[in-house]
Formats: sequence, structure tokens, C-alpha cells
Amino acid sequence: MFLPLPTPQEMNRWDQAAVDEAGMPAEMLMENAAREAFRVLCGCFEKSSATGAHTAEDPAWCLAEKRILCFMGGGNNGGDTAALARLLCGAGATVLVVHTRPLEDFRQEAAWHIERALQAGVLFVQYDASCPAVIPAVLSTKELSNWNDDACPVPVMPDIVVDGLLGTGLRGEVSDSLLALIRHINALARTAFVFSLDIPSGMDGLTGLPSPECVCARCTVTFQAPKTGLLHPEAKEYTGRLHIRDIGIPPAIQNRYPTRLRRATCAVAALPPPPSAAMHKGTAGRVLVIGGSAGLCGAPLLAAAGALRAGAGLVTVAVPARLEACVRHGNPDIMTLPLACGDDWAAFDARMLEGLDERYDAVIVGNGMGRSAHAGEALAEILKTPRPPSVIDADALFHLRHPTQMLALMRETDILTPHPGEMAFLTGLTIEQVQADRLAALEMLTRRTAATCILKGAGTLVGSTQSFTAFIDAGGPSLAVGGSGDVLAGICAAFAAQGLGAFNAAAAAAFIHGKAGELLLQEFPLRGTTASEIADTIPRTRKELYH
Ligand code: APR
Repeated sequence: MFLPLPTPQEMNRWDQAAVDEAGMPAEMLMENAAREAFRVLCGCFEKSSATGAHTAEDPAWCLAEKRILCFMGGGNNGGDTAALARLLCGAGATVLVVHTRPLEDFRQEAAWHIERALQAGVLFVQYDASCPAVIPAVLSTKELSNWNDDACPVPVMPDIVVDGLLGTGLRGEVSDSLLALIRHINALARTAFVFSLDIPSGMDGLTGLPSPECVCARCTVTFQAPKTGLLHPEAKEYTGRLHIRDIGIPPAIQNRYPTRLRRATCAVAALPPPPSAAMHKGTAGRVLVIGGSAGLCGAPLLAAAGALRAGAGLVTVAVPARLEACVRHGNPDIMTLPLACGDDWAAFDARMLEGLDERYDAVIVGNGMGRSAHAGEALAEILKTPRPPSVIDADALFHLRHPTQMLALMRETDILTPHPGEMAFLTGLTIEQVQADRLAALEMLTRRTAATCILKGAGTLVGSTQSFTAFIDAGGPSLAVGGSGDVLAGICAAFAAQGLGAFNAAAAAAFIHGKAGELLLQEFPLRGTTASEIADTIPRTRKELYH
């Protein structure tokens, strides 16, 4: 199953459509968001009190004596803040809202919620950008005596800071006055619990990067669906613990306006069918790995291990004949196919692979194949040969870049697996450009080929012209090791050999590969694990996820 992962613009379209087309009052959406935020905040403090007064009917008791400072921006993220401030006040907290825009300038749902909050007794104070000491000054004003211990002239720090300055409406770099507030919130974070609404202020909702600085929250509640940027690995240090809460945007609206990106979940699209009692090795998927060159025998072996550990019944490795003994001794679980060609694939003849499409259910090409011209020529021949679904990996991707017509030899059943460096030479972009907008880079490649493409790296993407793009947020540092990609190619091929279409095989493989990495990191948090161990972890990963 894939869940929507909207960009800020797509989220905005959902919000608009929920109001304009589904008839939901905008005030209700804002109320829902505030209520969800309130529940999440209660959950954060529930366990930390020792009074024992908590009952199921009264989840808010834990906020009753808290001093809560809310920062309210000029847009709807600010409106959410006003609605939350009212709920917090109702729960008995001492609440102060610092707003950056005159209250009378707010319109529509935000204005409606500000009015309710004022009626409920929430205290609002306008931020004065010209006075840098504004926050301490605010906290020491007489009417806020609650914020000060009688005996202490220094303002008492808040227990909780609600960050509602900027949400998905951020455009470009944060203005200087808001930057000062973001820094102030981060200074308060040394002692206070910072809670961000929707996204930490200053974060670009599309990329997850600070623009140029961003609130570092302890916890973020995001509404309806995570915005694309929130799931990027870099975003975690700013969001803290991320909660995703439904605010009632109807599924019909979400379906009417589907997002370009979707997030793979444990129930990842289609998985290979569970093994049947009657299966035999020939029906469990026959995979051929074609690769290897002088000094590069490990890569095809790791691809083979990935395929075997993902459940393929028979795995054969085809390498130049002189390397065959080395490969054969590397793993007793595989078969080998010696190819009568030089170590660098000179004199390769595709007839050596006769019956490729009948004898195998999936092929992997490229692991350790080398970058010689002979290897490139051999690849071109292999691609023209009748063949089953094929995973084009590693050095084969290098050869695909030139001539570009090679990309046209790809079919809908094939999978390309570039890392950012390989994506750079396949698209003509620099690695920095690929990483700056990974989705755009992936789409650039999928426009040129019928194959499904996996852009590897933190936040793996899987896409094709036939489908949406899947975002895989499973993974982690234990995958950052030589041979990890070979193992992924093996999993893709095993799943394709077991009957999954290219997109589902690629997405499920990337997800399980990522989860295997997570499992390894739990056991060995300081890394030091190898690609072989990633492969060996696959059966345990699948058991934990699906059994
Ligand atoms: N620097 C300073 N202010 C900015 C910048 C910037 N670079 N970019 C935008 N703003 C201001 C706008 O002028 C506007 O006042 O931020 C405000 C818009 O911010 P948001 O509240 O993030 O955007 P909006 O579209 O109104 O609301 C979206 O509302 O649905 C809720 O919390 C949810 O994040 C979501 C938010």
C-alpha cells in the first residue's frame, strides 16, 4: 500500500477542494487540526506526571499547570495556533500567544478562531520586530504575573513552546524578523518542549531543508499526510518525533487530486505470494546474474546472495570463464555459467546465453562487469537478446549513458537502479543537481525509458512513466556499504522472477532492503556490518514484517 505524500502545493489543493468541493467549513478543518495537535501534546506529557490523577475521560490533566508560549504567524498555521491556544487554555494551562501580524488583519477561518480564543481568555501580545528584547519584555509585563515567580524578577521560562509561525506557506527564505523569532524559539528549546504545528517553521516543506534556518522541535504534528520534505532523512533533526494526524480531508478529495509521490508502507503494494506447499526450486524463481571482471567477483556474488535471500529458487552467476572458479568457490548455494570471453568481456557472443528468456525468470546485468569498451559491447548484445525481466545495475548503467539509444532498449519489465552518481551521468546533471531535486532527476530519466527506475540513496525513489513515484523512507546508515546496491538488485530480480511487475518488484525490494538495514542498525548501532549481512538479514526482516 502506498500513502499520499503531498507537496505543500498539493496539500493546499486538498485544503481548498475540501472546502470548495466537499463543502467542509474551513473553520472545521482548522478545529480538527488544533484538536489533533492538542491530543498529541497531551500524549507527550501524559507519562511524565506522577500525580496519578489521569483518567481516560480527562486526557488533558497533564497540561493543566503548564506555561505555554505560542508563536503565531500571519497565515493559517497561525490560525491553527490560535485554535490550539484556546484548547490549551480550556485545559487549564497558562497560555500566551505572541503574534506577528495585527489580529484585525486576519481573515476568514483564522479570524474566526482568534475571536474564539479571545473569548476563551487567551492572552495575545503582538511581536514587535523593532524591539529585539521583545520576548523577555513581554514575559515581564505586569498582566502576565502568572509567568513570574513572585520572588523572582527574571521572567520564568515557558514549559512548552508552540511553533505556529510558518507552515506550508513558506516561500523562499525566511524574512529577518521571523528568523529572529526562529532563533529565539531554538534558544528557548534548551529548557522548553518545542512543539511544531504541521512543519517546523523555516523548513521548506518540499525539500525538508532549512530555509535558511529552522525551528528544532522536540515533536511535530503534521496534518492529514506528511509533506514530502518531512520524510527526508535530514528533516528528522528538525521535526523531532513526527506525528501524522488525520484532519478529515475526505478520501474522495485525496483521490480526485492524487499526489505525485506516495510513501511505501509495510503493506507495500504487491509482495511475492507466500510460498505454497507444492512449490519446487524451479517454480520459486530462476535468476541469472551476468557480471564480473578481473578483480570484481564479489559484486555478482552479492547480487546472487540478495536474490537467494529474497526467495529465488535457483540462482546462476554467468562470468567470464577465467573467473568462474573464483565465483564458484565464493558461494556453494549458486550455480555458475562460464562465458567464453576475456576477463574484460572481449569476444563476448550473445549466443553463449542461448535460451536466456526460457531458462531464467529474471536477469541481473552489470554487477562487477567493469567499464571497458568490450563490456559495453557485450551489454548492448545482451540487451538485444530475447530475455526475461531484467535488472540493469552498476557498471551496466555506466554503459547505458552512451550511446543514449541504449536506454531505448529497455522495456516496461526492466528495472534500472542508479545511485546519485550513476543518475548524474545518465541524465547529464551533476550529482549536486540530482540530490537537490531527486524527484525531478528521476522523472528526467523515466521520460527517456520504458523501464522502472530506482534512484537509490537516503529517501529512495521508485518510478516509471506508468505510475506515481514511490518514496521509501526505510533505510539508514548500515546500508551505506559497498555491495549494498548489488544486494538490492538481487532482491529486485528475485521478486520479478516470482511474478511481480517491475514497479512492484522494485518498490517492494527497496522497502525490504531498507527495513533490513534498519534491523541491522538496531543490532549494531555503530555499523560495521557488511553487504552479505544485509542479504542474510532479508528472511528475518520479511518474517518480522509479514509473518
Ligand atoms: N518569510 C516570512 N514570511 C513568509 C515567508 C517568508 N519567506 N513566506 C511566506 N510568509 C508568510 C506569508 O506572507 C503568510 O503570511 O507566511 C504566511 C503563510 O504561512 P503559512 O501559515 O505557512 O501558510 P498558509 O498557506 O496560510 O497556511 C498553511 O495552514 O493548513 C494549515 O498548518 C497548516 O501548514 C499549513 C498552513
